[in-house]
Amino acid sequence: MDGNGRWAKQQGKARHHGHKAGAESVRRVVQACGELGVEALTLFAFSSENWKRPKLEVELLMELFMTALSREVKSLKKNNVKLRVIGELSAFPQRLQDKIQKSIDETTECTGLHLNIAANYGGRWDVANAAKQIARQVQLGELSLDQIDENQLNAFTQLSDLPEVDLFIRTGGEVRVSNFLLWQIAYSEMVFSDVLWPEFGEEALKDAIDQFSKRQRRFGKTGEQIEEG
Ligand code: FPP
Repeated sequence: MDGNGRWAKQQGKARHHGHKAGAESVRRVVQACGELGVEALTLFAFSSENWKRPKLEVELLMELFMTALSREVKSLKKNNVKLRVIGELSAFPQRLQDKIQKSIDETTECTGLHLNIAANYGGRWDVANAAKQIARQVQLGELSLDQIDENQLNAFTQLSDLPEVDLFIRTGGEVRVSNFLLWQIAYSEMVFSDVLWPEFGEEALKDAIDQFSKRQRRFGKTGEQIEEG
């Protein structure tokens, strides 16, 4: 969800106004995904590197997460959206951790869109965390070295119970992954949109999905093999 700061600057406002407008885009995109029948949506809200931002911006972002969770959780539940938050949550203030857990608990029964918010998340953290859990199993004698393979490691990564990530969208014109879902995007289609996140909505989402639907996904095979079915 890149481009909040630049959008605010264009409006002659402080960066925080961009994040607030970005929260409105979150609401629009979650709603559109629900309507389009998307199974899972994962949003990069705060990276493990975002702590390096000015203290005030980090504090205001935390406040925004708190208010957004309080405000939206009822509507998530009403729309059958199941919330999950991925990342190293122990670094957040206790009241935010409590609010996150309470919001997750409120939507546990929901069976529609899986909404995953990545907060203090990093793709490298995700893989390292999975490796640590594999090592623990080996240490406990529950797993032998020979049993470690991609599937075993995958089982310990975040989102392993959800379908493969089909489409990766980055807004705001930068063409890089910035430590988002590294393991999970091995075969994702990438769409880099120039639209700044506060201006991203149903139309831009549909445009990204349209680009995705025109791609030939080969997964290592040749184009001819795919055409032959
Ligand atoms: C990146 O834009 C955006 C963020 C680091 C924060 C994303 C947060 C929100 C959209 C707020 C609401 C989120 C939830 C889940 C309620 P940037 O600040 O790097 O923009 P810039 O590159 O233009 O400076």
